[in-house]
Amino acid sequence: MYSKIFQLALLAGVICFFSCKNTPGTPQPGIEKSAFGQMPDGRAVELYTLRNAQGMEVKITTYGGTITSWTAPDKAGTYADIALGCDSLADYLHGTPYFGAIIGRYGNRIAKGKFTLDSVAYTLATNNIGNHLHGGIAGFDKVLWSAEAVPGAEPALRLTYQSKDGEEGYPGNLSATVTYTLQKDNALKIDYTATADKPTIVNLTNHTYFNLAGNGDILGHELLLHADRFLPVDSTLIPTGELRPVSGTVFDFTSATPIGARINDTSDVQIRYGLGYDHCWVLTASDADGLRPAAVLSEPQSGRVLEVLTTEPAVQFYSGNFLDGTVTGKGDLPYRYRTGLCLETQHYPDAPNRPEFPSTVLRPGEMYTSSTVYRFSVKR
Ligand code: BGC
Repeated sequence: MYSKIFQLALLAGVICFFSCKNTPGTPQPGIEKSAFGQMPDGRAVELYTLRNAQGMEVKITTYGGTITSWTAPDKAGTYADIALGCDSLADYLHGTPYFGAIIGRYGNRIAKGKFTLDSVAYTLATNNIGNHLHGGIAGFDKVLWSAEAVPGAEPALRLTYQSKDGEEGYPGNLSATVTYTLQKDNALKIDYTATADKPTIVNLTNHTYFNLAGNGDILGHELLLHADRFLPVDSTLIPTGELRPVSGTVFDFTSATPIGARINDTSDVQIRYGLGYDHCWVLTASDADGLRPAAVLSEPQSGRVLEVLTTEPAVQFYSGNFLDGTVTGKGDLPYRYRTGLCLETQHYPDAPNRPEFPSTVLRPGEMYTSSTVYRFSVKR
């Protein structure tokens, strides 16, 4: 009986998926594909628009699996684009600080680009003051992904990428998939999987910069992190190995706190090193399997609220400290200092050199899985 109902619901979803048109005033869930330009070698780049029944729209390009725009309603029901990004593929190809992109094979930093696995020493591409950052010079944010719409009641896009043995110095061929599902509750779920044919390391994330007001800086946003410890770093932003309690520090976001309240408190050397917040928070352990709450971000004027849930053990909160107005974004406007913030769910930075950190090793026969949900609501 229930399986019959499920089959009918699935069929309705598939029919709607292929045939529904968005009539003004009555958004229909669906997914549309359009051209977004060409890679320098001529390969076609696509842009997919996912829309849910409430009217939320997420645009994703196959270049870097990048979220280029994402609309969310405020407390009056007015939609605004809450993700930083660019208008054209040319702008992305020109280079951005990872706006909206999939990050891999290893998100965040690996000290000096070196690690040893099964007694074999590997050297990765270094691209950040002598360290390896976000997969190297041409990480997963700069490659072309293959895309297919996933039939179902909710619009979903599955991206795949085959990373070659030796790419950016990583061992093993890695087959990665990222599935974006736009749920009816105004949540975007991101499911990652990967398999490899040699022992390797993997730590995938998404690098969307959020600005819940849709403009201005993010200093008035309030943040709560479900984390009672964070990872102090050295001056090159590599973790020292310590898991420091946040209590009594400017890193305490265990209750909702305006981001601007303590971000310039340079009496803490960690703020000096990060030029603000650019650190990894260790999520408070929970007995619950699967998704657990990581963060709640809210913006008082618009009333927009973003909840982040994840299966990952940590989240990098980066307050846009390297945005300096030199990157032009949508509408040809420069993105200035702290106009967006990232909440990158992940394993700890430099884990391949820290046996005491949760492991990021993936072996042949194993499947890497990771899921994160970004859910929007409003507070009146
Ligand atoms: C890192 C920053 C880095 C930024 C680049 C963030 O994930 O934590 O240190 O500068 O990415 O956009």
